[in-house]
Amino acid sequence: MITSADRWQGWPHVLSGKQFDRCFLERELFPLAGEMNNAAQTRDCDFLKGKRVRLLFYEPSERTLDSFVSACDLLGAKSVWLGDPAIFSSQAKGESFADMIRVVNRYEYDAIVIRSKEVGGAAKAAEVSQIPIVNAGDGSGEHPTQALLDAFTIHRSLGQIDGVRIALVGDLVYSRTIRSLAFLLAQWKVGHILFVGPVNWKIGDDVRGHLEEKGVSYSEGYDLEEVAPQVDVVYLTRAQTERGNLPLRYTDVPGQKVCVTLTQAVLEKMPDHARVLHPLPRNDQFRELPEEFTDNPKVIIFDQVRNGLLIRMALLRMLLE
Ligand code: NCD
Repeated sequence: MITSADRWQGWPHVLSGKQFDRCFLERELFPLAGEMNNAAQTRDCDFLKGKRVRLLFYEPSERTLDSFVSACDLLGAKSVWLGDPAIFSSQAKGESFADMIRVVNRYEYDAIVIRSKEVGGAAKAAEVSQIPIVNAGDGSGEHPTQALLDAFTIHRSLGQIDGVRIALVGDLVYSRTIRSLAFLLAQWKVGHILFVGPVNWKIGDDVRGHLEEKGVSYSEGYDLEEVAPQVDVVYLTRAQTERGNLPLRYTDVPGQKVCVTLTQAVLEKMPDHARVLHPLPRNDQFRELPEEFTDNPKVIIFDQVRNGLLIRMALLRMLLE
């Protein structure tokens, strides 16, 4: 029998895309997430009745916050969100983050979901917390639950992840969703990962090191249009302007063609079965995934959104039941 201690490395905290193995994902998490669709639609589940989840979000969020709130609601648990802690908690009076986590631990919560501005914020909370900490994004660090829903979406739409060739496109420096997804994909025998970003905008050594250790083949390029015919998945990201990024379309290397946005040419060159993902939000001004392609059958960004609800419902059940 699988005990909870065997579920993933670092149990019960969810901190990194590196924690999970494919056996757990394919045999436990993804099937349970699949079952959650019906549970969500019927709206009469009480698997987590009496459970309480504290939400601590220090950065703006739409999907992650709402999907955790909705997941709790649809499972009969209570979620508690008391506004931006940087403004409304005693941290505004100089209280340490560690003390805040110790305090929240005394109020009969069953888990804390944290989005922090700092890399390593959730890990810091896990050091002093007796209850599970879920990393809902830590600065430009990681976003493991997004990686889980991205992998689930690829698995559902293509039927497998082994052999899949995926282009991770855009803000290779600051995107936490790219980092966590690259870590997570290394669990499978993926065909190839192509990092596509502007010149001088390279993926970090931590990601390279992990992929090399796991024997994942990867390469780097600047032109999505050029690689489009070779990929099964195009995973777009926005420029993380709040982290000091400049619009990614520009390059300071003259003569080098850079394409990190979805264009008609990219869509036409992609194989018929290939799919376009984006963690969202997409940037209306930068237009890395222009509005006019929203309903293209290759673009499955709102399936991803739905899958985010299902994955978070499944994860909460595993953590709290
Ligand atoms: C991402 C995030 O917050 O890192 N969004 C999300 O959670 N779906 C992507 C982003 O903000 O660019």
